[in-house]
Amino acid sequence: MKILRTVRELRDFTEAMHAENKSIGLVPTMGALHTGHASLVKRSVSENDATVVSLFVNPTQFNNPADLATYPRTEEADFALLESVGATAVFAPSVEEVYPEEEKNTPVHTFDLGQVAEVMEGAMRPGHFQGVAQIVSKLLRLSTPTRAYFGEKDFQQIAVIRRMIATEGIEVEIVSCPIVREADGLALSSRNVRLTPAQRRTAPGIHAALAKGVELSREMPLQQVHDAVVADINALPECEVEYFEIVDGITLQPVSSLEDSSYVVGCITVYCGDVRLIDNICFRK
Ligand code: PAJ
Repeated sequence: MKILRTVRELRDFTEAMHAENKSIGLVPTMGALHTGHASLVKRSVSENDATVVSLFVNPTQFNNPADLATYPRTEEADFALLESVGATAVFAPSVEEVYPEEEKNTPVHTFDLGQVAEVMEGAMRPGHFQGVAQIVSKLLRLSTPTRAYFGEKDFQQIAVIRRMIATEGIEVEIVSCPIVREADGLALSSRNVRLTPAQRRTAPGIHAALAKGVELSREMPLQQVHDAVVADINALPECEVEYFEIVDGITLQPVSSLEDSSYVVGCITVYCGDVRLIDNICFRK
């Protein structure tokens, strides 16, 4: 596996791949890799001649400085995991390499992300999706992949990226991959390591409440389902729901009944102590 630290090295690598007519899969990550990330890499390895994994804690998408400061960094272990699942190259640049001085002085390009970026995470984390669009568009332009892989754990992020590539005119196939969970139902996340042992024991209650919500939706109106899920999670020690929205899976606008759309997803964020956990579940597809 090649370790690429500079934009020049990344460009040389992808140009060599294109010269040989090889397909490239890109898996953008912020490192602290786990089995969820590995599932994206494995999928890319199975579908492309070469797989590039980017490993970059993107400062511009963190609206909370404390979250950026405490974000786990485990580069050596990440490289070993990527090697073991067959990645061809890893792009692990410094902040200065990605955001050179000249760029800091030019006006920040504002992406047209539309309504999908305004709700839920967009409302709670001002500027977050602009930062995600900034780094993902840059990574796509630098690595010119055939396909790019994203996890459904960040359900809204995929919708925002689809919108971004459409408005920016970037040609790439976006592949969305299912959520990988622990055996007890907790969605894998780099932030899970920050949970205390007691919080780690209660956090699976989030997925359990969502799964129960899907059952309840067969027999009661969605507003009641919503309230039951929120009440169940708020009853867990140290857990507090930030938002829970049952939305159309494409537009991300709220639905009031399962009949309103053929694709319905419930998206949630929960504070477990000071760790912000995000999850979702499909109600109808
Ligand atoms: P990060 O949180 O590192 O996630 C990288 C990719 O792994 C994302 O597409 C995310 O949805 C996926 N992923 C994380 N946990 C997962 C799980 N349990 N199951 C399946 N997929 C999972 O998302 C980001 O980084 C950043 O915003 C990024 C796109 C890299 C831009 O900086």
